[in-house]
Amino acid sequence: MLADIIDVLADPIDGTALSRGDAGWASLRSESGHCYDVARQGYVTLAGGAGLRYTGDDAKMIAAREEFLSGGHYAPFVEAVTGNVQDALDDAGVHDDAEPVICEVGAGTGYYLAHTLDGVAGARGVGIDVSVPAAKHLAKCHPRVGAVVADAWARMPLRDGSIDAITVVFAPRNAEEFARVLKPGGQVVVLTADTGHLSELRAPLGIIDVERGKVERMIDQAKGHLTPVGDPELVEFGMSLDQDAIAAQIGMSPSARHIHPEVLAERIAALPPRMEVTARAYVTRLGRAG
Ligand SMILES: C[S@@+](CC[C@H](N)C(=O)[O-])C[C@H]1O[C@@H](n2cnc3c(N)ncnc32)[C@H](O)[C@@H]1O
Repeated sequence: MLADIIDVLADPIDGTALSRGDAGWASLRSESGHCYDVARQGYVTLAGGAGLRYTGDDAKMIAAREEFLSGGHYAPFVEAVTGNVQDALDDAGVHDDAEPVICEVGAGTGYYLAHTLDGVAGARGVGIDVSVPAAKHLAKCHPRVGAVVADAWARMPLRDGSIDAITVVFAPRNAEEFARVLKPGGQVVVLTADTGHLSELRAPLGIIDVERGKVERMIDQAKGHLTPVGDPELVEFGMSLDQDAIAAQIGMSPSARHIHPEVLAERIAALPPRMEVTARAYVTRLGRAG
């Protein structure tokens, strides 16, 4: 709920503190007097004067994501993210009773954030996504999550030095903003798909592979703001997927936008009824530079 995380939220326009509106939790008001309505589904949109430049994943993609993730196919990924957040909090000497704040950026349905909060008793979660359909899921994904619609490329609606850990799973990273909002010992945990991810599906479905050197480029782009803590950790495993699971996997990815739905359906129908598919990504931890 937003009440759990109000102490870290900030006005996206001027960074002043947000608190409950005059008429209760139906709106949030900043110290400078800006007012933001809370949707009846429980999320709040925190965007500056120009509004949001992106809409993010649409309702169909979010439904496909929900379907695919609920099959448990990505369990090793979610375990790796939660384990790395626990390690990051241990590194910083943060105890559960400190009610640390974990923020997931581009949080989608909240599958990863909810799992991480289950693994850190007492932690509170900020789920940020630019997609309204995602925020509707985020608002109900865990009792200790507050859902915020915001653009990761803009000034994030979070106070300076307020966040214990940030997670980013296959989503945009804004290193400068992450460094601003992290507490001094805080860390970012990033899961980045690597070349070979879903390799068995690439040729038959006509989807492009993940480009080489993605992790190195991410580390390079963060220079001056964030520095890696240790080496990136490879997480690779096989998934046994039937055609419905494959359709959901493709439906939640950008490929869904690039291939005509009928063509995609035909290509999926031509696959074997069940396939062994590789999942492959790196988990990288980064702390504030300097
Ligand atoms: C590939 S999905 C990953 C979702 C989630 N992390 C997961 O793995 O289940 C990328 C997510 O980032 C969101 N997104 C894209 N651009 C964004 C932006 N500029 N700011 C915030 N979220 C963004 C999308 O709406 C989508 O939910």
